[in-house]
Amino acid sequence: MEQKIRNKFQELFNTTGSVYASPGRINLIGEHTDYNGGFVFPGAIDKGMIAEIKPNGTDKVRAFSIDLNDYVEFGLREEDAPKASWARYIFGVCREIIKRGGTIQGFDTTFAGDVPLGAGMSSSAALESTYAFALNDLFQLGIDKFELAKIGQATEHNYCGVNCGIMDQFASVFGKAGHLIRLDCRSLEYKYYPFDPEAAGYKLVLLDSVVKHELASSAYNKRRQSCEHVVEAIRRRHPEVEYLRDATMEMLGEVKGEVSAEDYMRAEYVIEEIQRVLDVCEALEKGDYETVGQKMYGTHYGMSKLYEVSCEELDFLNDIAKECGVTGSRVMGGGFGGCTINLVKNELYDAFVKKAFADYTAKFGHEPKLYDVVISDGARKLH
Ligand code: GLA
Repeated sequence: MEQKIRNKFQELFNTTGSVYASPGRINLIGEHTDYNGGFVFPGAIDKGMIAEIKPNGTDKVRAFSIDLNDYVEFGLREEDAPKASWARYIFGVCREIIKRGGTIQGFDTTFAGDVPLGAGMSSSAALESTYAFALNDLFQLGIDKFELAKIGQATEHNYCGVNCGIMDQFASVFGKAGHLIRLDCRSLEYKYYPFDPEAAGYKLVLLDSVVKHELASSAYNKRRQSCEHVVEAIRRRHPEVEYLRDATMEMLGEVKGEVSAEDYMRAEYVIEEIQRVLDVCEALEKGDYETVGQKMYGTHYGMSKLYEVSCEELDFLNDIAKECGVTGSRVMGGGFGGCTINLVKNELYDAFVKKAFADYTAKFGHEPKLYDVVISDGARKLH
């Protein structure tokens, strides 16, 4: 992949630049908790985005996406926003840096990735972090890593229409090989947890349903609104509650008559999910993978029945995991398609994968995809 990027850069710009990379992420547990001020438990993976970049001494960015075979040029002023959605990620990062007082100039760039798009592994955060990290380094802006993650998140909010939380960008910037990160999304305090399921006899496997539902981003934003409605209602009695993170099931019960049944279910899921993250961290410290797995099933149930961000294909994959005796399984990421993440005992792995492929293909007419993941480092300069 890197060679392709270099060849194309040479061909288009007749020079060489610096090469940067940022990863996608998995999340062991804690979905839709980040924008509720709660906890998440992600790790960066060995798949991501790589970009070659060189300042070109003009006020224009000239960018080529190798995967989409598409070339775009844009300026750095707000009115210069490109139409191509992939280019808006790069443009957004530039704008968010400029808004924070950073001085950047035009640059030439080619990039490619091996994080599957729309699979819930944060290909977009990988792209944002790559450019935030690279521009910070190339133009010596001195922006700290927290702010780099926030620049990626603000890009989603202001240029891509997704009101996401901080998890994906944080994991992409702060990732550390062999470790998951427990992040408190309110204070941004974080702690690395060594994570080596292989040593305990387990494999971590992603099964990609290869479905991506349209309107996923508007449905995502709608979930966030539901949470905000419930917080508003609770605050009338408990003004100290800033996020659902601060609410208890008891407080939620008090406002049952004041919020819609749907909003109530959404909040119920979030309050339970925040606790599950803490339970999983505790279990992991004891090497208790059985509890980790049970909590993962709990998350799937909540995401499917209460938060309603699963789909037929993902529920089907989850059922197969259960039937095969897989330790833990759940839909990963924002939902509405993408992957399940599965914690599987070594001795069950072959049988599970075989059955998942056979039954899924028989039912939906196409195969799922399988990814083994290695927990890896975050944003970095390669050359
Ligand atoms: C997407 C968002 C994240 C997070 C997850 C769900 O990946 O980008 O901020 O909300 O969904 O946990």
